[in-house]
Amino acid sequence: MGARGPRSVRITGWGRYVPERILTNADLEKLVDTSDEWIVSRTGIRERRMAAPHETTATLAAIAGKRAIAVAGLEPDDIDLILVGTLTPDYWMPATAVLVKEAIGNTRAVAFDVMAACSGFVYAYATADAFIRSGVYRNVLVIGAELLTRFLDFSDRNTCILFGDGAGAIVVSASDEEGGGLRGMELTTDPDGAYMIWLPSGGSKSPPSHETISRGEHFVRMEGRETYRFATRTLATSALKAIERAGWKLEDVDLLIPHQANVRIIESVSKGLGLPMSKMFVNVDRYGNTSAASVGIALAEAVDSGRVKIGDKIVFVAFGAGFTSGAAAVEWTADPVNGHRADSVVPEASVRAPLDWDSVDPIPERLRALLASREGPQVPLDDVVPGEPEPVHRGAPA
Ligand code: ACO
Repeated sequence: MGARGPRSVRITGWGRYVPERILTNADLEKLVDTSDEWIVSRTGIRERRMAAPHETTATLAAIAGKRAIAVAGLEPDDIDLILVGTLTPDYWMPATAVLVKEAIGNTRAVAFDVMAACSGFVYAYATADAFIRSGVYRNVLVIGAELLTRFLDFSDRNTCILFGDGAGAIVVSASDEEGGGLRGMELTTDPDGAYMIWLPSGGSKSPPSHETISRGEHFVRMEGRETYRFATRTLATSALKAIERAGWKLEDVDLLIPHQANVRIIESVSKGLGLPMSKMFVNVDRYGNTSAASVGIALAEAVDSGRVKIGDKIVFVAFGAGFTSGAAAVEWTADPVNGHRADSVVPEASVRAPLDWDSVDPIPERLRALLASREGPQVPLDDVVPGEPEPVHRGAPA
């Protein structure tokens, strides 16, 4: 444990990973009564990513995390603390961060999850900053990772069109240089929204049973309009508070990276704040709402696409189930060129499975049927056993 806090706490690495498979609005038209036109006009979403059967939240998180560590110029064992923001963990226990620790090859970090729904990444970043600022740790890996396609009811058009899978990560480090990094922060929790976005069963209030499953209580539920109202109001007020705490004026902000839930929400925040859309980062059209992963993916994409330079004043702002919200005003200090270091990281991660444990196919039934009709039968990678090819002709030689 360190005794004294550093001069500043800075973001030194960033990384993202999204699964290869794309689920388009046209695909969803085959599952529910919706249309590309409705989804694009109401949400701005055109497509989202869907994890392959062998992928889990921990594998997505590990790839994004390894990339962020490479960009920071560190080794996995330099990381003292691993925080994973997620509402779709691999298991209820252990924490997904524990699995990520092993998958990235770290032997010494403390690892735990942060559960604040879509605000999870910003909450985890705030936690990392506090641990470093107080002198406890020097390098913290913060990851937002979600595999939402396994928690959606693909017969409910209100929810299944909105969400997608992916992971975004940063490395937050102690610095002996003055200034830069997190300058102002605002986190809020409003229990009035507790049942506006929720997943009813699986917890102690309603343990999983045949009955809860037959009622579809293991899927995400949402009151869209109430959530929309909360989002537009709170994203703006939280961002303003963080900007004020940083001692900045709104016009000082170079880029606002909002949670990517709906382009209309982002447009309304832009209008409410009087910040032009050219200063709002948007990628919801390609990934949908990836919940806790969204701000991390957006940040990494913004830096790698040249939208962020040293000295820029950027603001992350998220809202989510709870209701929760989180905003962080950050002075950017890392050289965006370092992003290329992530190119050497192979997009694969292996999370150790328990011995003698026979998992069921994780893909929801309706999605499995859709993919089979679109792409032909899928062979889960887990089932492919390397070995000698089967002889073509058994029995008597020709
Ligand atoms: N396709 C076609 N029609 C649809 C669909 C669909 N996919 N979904 C809903 N509709 C229908 C509704 O049934 C309704 O029909 P009705 O008028 O006959 O009842 C009509 O479209 C309008 O529905 P609204 O709910 O009023 O549509 P709205 O314009 O509010 O858009 C939306 C819905 C996109 C869900 C919006 O409310 C929204 O984005 N809310 C915020 C959601 C959000 O951000 N959630 C993430 C929270 S973060 C977290 O922590 C997980």
